[in-house]
Amino acid sequence: MDGNRERSLWRETSPLIETDADLPIDADVVVVGAGLAGAATTLMLSSRGHRVALLEAHRVGARTTGDSTAKLSLLQGTTLSAVLEGSGPATLRAYAQGNEHAQLWLRDRLHGTGAEERRTAYTYATGPEGDEALRRESAACALAGISARLEGPGDIGLPFPVTSSLSLPDQSQLHPMAVLAQLLRDARRHGAAVVENCRLTAVHDEAEGLVIETPRRTMRTRLLILTTGFPALDRNAFFAQLTPSRQFVVSYRLPDGIDPPEGMYLSADPVTRSLRTARGADGETLLLVGGDSYVPGRDPETAERLASIDRWTTETFPGASRTRWWAAQDYRMANGRPFMGRVAGHAGRVLAATGFAKWGMTNAVAAAMALAGHAEDDPPAWAAPFAELSTGRHGAAEMVKANASVAAGLARGWVNPEQSYPDAGDGVRARIRRRGITPVAESQVDGRVCAVSAVCTHLGGIVRWNSAERTWDCPLHGSRFAPDGKVLEGPAQRNLAQKGRSA
Ligand SMILES: Cc1cc2nc3c(=O)[nH]c(=O)nc-3n(C[C@H](O)[C@H](O)[C@H](O)COP(=O)(O)OP(=O)(O)OC[C@H]3O[C@@H](n4cnc5c(N)ncnc54)[C@H](O)[C@@H]3O)c2cc1C
Ligand code: FES
Repeated sequence: MDGNRERSLWRETSPLIETDADLPIDADVVVVGAGLAGAATTLMLSSRGHRVALLEAHRVGARTTGDSTAKLSLLQGTTLSAVLEGSGPATLRAYAQGNEHAQLWLRDRLHGTGAEERRTAYTYATGPEGDEALRRESAACALAGISARLEGPGDIGLPFPVTSSLSLPDQSQLHPMAVLAQLLRDARRHGAAVVENCRLTAVHDEAEGLVIETPRRTMRTRLLILTTGFPALDRNAFFAQLTPSRQFVVSYRLPDGIDPPEGMYLSADPVTRSLRTARGADGETLLLVGGDSYVPGRDPETAERLASIDRWTTETFPGASRTRWWAAQDYRMANGRPFMGRVAGHAGRVLAATGFAKWGMTNAVAAAMALAGHAEDDPPAWAAPFAELSTGRHGAAEMVKANASVAAGLARGWVNPEQSYPDAGDGVRARIRRRGITPVAESQVDGRVCAVSAVCTHLGGIVRWNSAERTWDCPLHGSRFAPDGKVLEGPAQRNLAQKGRSA
């Protein structure tokens, strides 16, 4: 039971990804999380002769990577100006260098596979706020050595006028499941084991290394690498530094005779829109539209966000018809830059990567390069700033703001947990009510009645109903649960407790 979300186009059209039935007894390195960061790390280390086991709680690509919009681009909306503002010019240049190396590495692996298509990337504005953001981004690109071109009003292939745009030719759009298939095929050729439905549940130290616990069995390793989106063992209190951001992605068929825009687009306006094309299951060209990010658990009406993407698309491309929709989330560090380094404790034997802020097609691969380097005590020079958790003044202010709203959300949830989400005509009902002191989350979806604890198993937030996806989402740090309490993603690693059938 995975809520209401449809399978992403990528997972629907995924090539077969072969995996291994058995978990080995030991490995030199255990990598946890089979998204892009885990797959790339596994390939890099196994190709250098390490015995690697990759563990995945669900299926390969089941979370952000398999649900991404998957643009492999050095032009990244307004990210470079954010890195500059948060961390300064030296870190900005290191960020760009890591991303360039990552793009080259991935393209080399994908050559001839059909998983990558070259496109011009555009960041565009349709008003003064966006124009100002583009001017700042253009200056950051110049500092970073990325030769993006800033232009005023003009035609960039969209069916509406833009007031300014930044463009960078020869970027790529990916089929992310085909990418995972290719990387893992190569990793298994180098002897790596890839095991699905195998969640890391605990880690213990012993003299020579680590003991890894999973529901299948325990195994031993010298080094553990967490590529789980939100790091699964939160020894660095990542929850205080990471903010989740969730977003819908919708695919549309355009009327006969109307071609979707050729490039890859992202708006710098206050309401973002992300566009690219993709092939449907029968080979037709579809338009993908993403946008309207929100913090999971903090939006009272997620179905309305999905509807607003529909309205925008059908106004902009008359006759467009929706073929499917899905949603995904990614995490941003308070200091605005990704983390790729050692986590506290375990004698330095645990590494992690996170905080790709919706630019993980390059950053997850850059993280793999950094982590594989750390594993051999020889990280690339550009990776140094990303191994540090320091926030700086700007990041500290961001962290205080984020944690104040988390604390307020926690208090609000416990003081006033009761919520009722009326049947919107689809037979779906959900409510939270107190039974004794425990708030209980009750739902009826497709006739199935569930009652589970409304208390998030991460740090005790009270979950909220996600009306579009029909899931229980925690407003504190973005953990998400199916109506039957099964943990789907985020920092929580345990299911919501069962509370019997609702009255
Ligand atoms: C809507 C959206 C659009 C995006 N578009 C772009 C884009 O156009 N370009 C771009 O560069 N980036 C984009 N991104 C970002 C990019 O997709 C992500 O940064 C990247 O896919 C993250 O990869 P990952 O390997 O870190 O995480 P994931 O792909 O989420 O992989 C983590 C895996 O860990 C597993 N896991 C978790 N806990 C455990 C455990 N205890 N044991 C075992 N396994 C576990 C999960 O099941 C999951 O499969 C987008 C993100 C979103 C949300
Ligand atoms: S995600 Fe942290 S308390 Fe729920």
